[in-house]
Amino acid sequence: MRGVILAGGLGSRLYPITEVTNKHLLPVYDRPMIFHPLDTLLRAGIKDILIVSSPEHAGAFLRLLKNGQQFDANFTFRVQNGNGGIAEALGLAEDFAHGDDITVILGDNIFEDDFSEAVKTFKSGATLFLKDTDEARRFGVAEIVDGKLVGIEEKPKEPKSTYAITGIYIFDSQVFNFIKRLEPSWRNELEITDVNNFYIEKNEAQAIFVEGRWTDAGTFESLYMAGIIARDRVLGQMETHIKERVIKGIKVTDEEHNRYPRFVPVKH
Ligand code: G1P
Repeated sequence: MRGVILAGGLGSRLYPITEVTNKHLLPVYDRPMIFHPLDTLLRAGIKDILIVSSPEHAGAFLRLLKNGQQFDANFTFRVQNGNGGIAEALGLAEDFAHGDDITVILGDNIFEDDFSEAVKTFKSGATLFLKDTDEARRFGVAEIVDGKLVGIEEKPKEPKSTYAITGIYIFDSQVFNFIKRLEPSWRNELEITDVNNFYIEKNEAQAIFVEGRWTDAGTFESLYMAGIIARDRVLGQMETHIKERVIKGIKVTDEEHNRYPRFVPVKH
């Protein structure tokens, strides 16, 4: 299975910190935001990854990520002009997908869960990942009837449930035909929610509930929460004496560094 990270957009809810950089390059605890969704894909066993970014900052993504060798992965880059939405950005992945299934993750989504089982067992249609939230109005929200996902509303004023559709999706190759049928929404974007509703209408969408913590990082509060989740994860994996040194800002040795698993290998 191939993977796609969507890292375009203006990040306008985070102005002024995104005025001169791309949101997905901002720090989330100890590394640039995009390293977190990248780690989610790598942990799911996905190594062929397309990164879609914005023309203004594509060079920075290349400098940061290079060809993927340091992550034991293989990266391809594409650029989305303007702010045409998540589904438009995904449309740029058609050639890259080669007619295969793809796992798509939004570059500002931070997960604790491991998706390798869902990726391994995926057969066809779409797999969507839901998470209970008290901020449903900010997301695509599931309508669930008798335990079944029957529809999704994007940023509803009156959400029909408390379950957000998170920003990781597994799609079969139909996704590109669905994208071609989309019309721009009220916010003048091609919506991933409309793509997901095509799958639901065809009865080809499967819902899985996310167990661990999840957040996006598109607002000041959620960016702050992303840092907390990332910090807990990084420090939670360390031996106490190394953790104390990291917290105090004392550099750990290479040997100490090798003794705890990082999200992804990073050269210091
Ligand atoms: C997007 C999707 C939304 C989804 C969310 C997850 O929202 O449109 O359905 O719930 O990502 O992070 P946006 O970040 O564009 O507001």
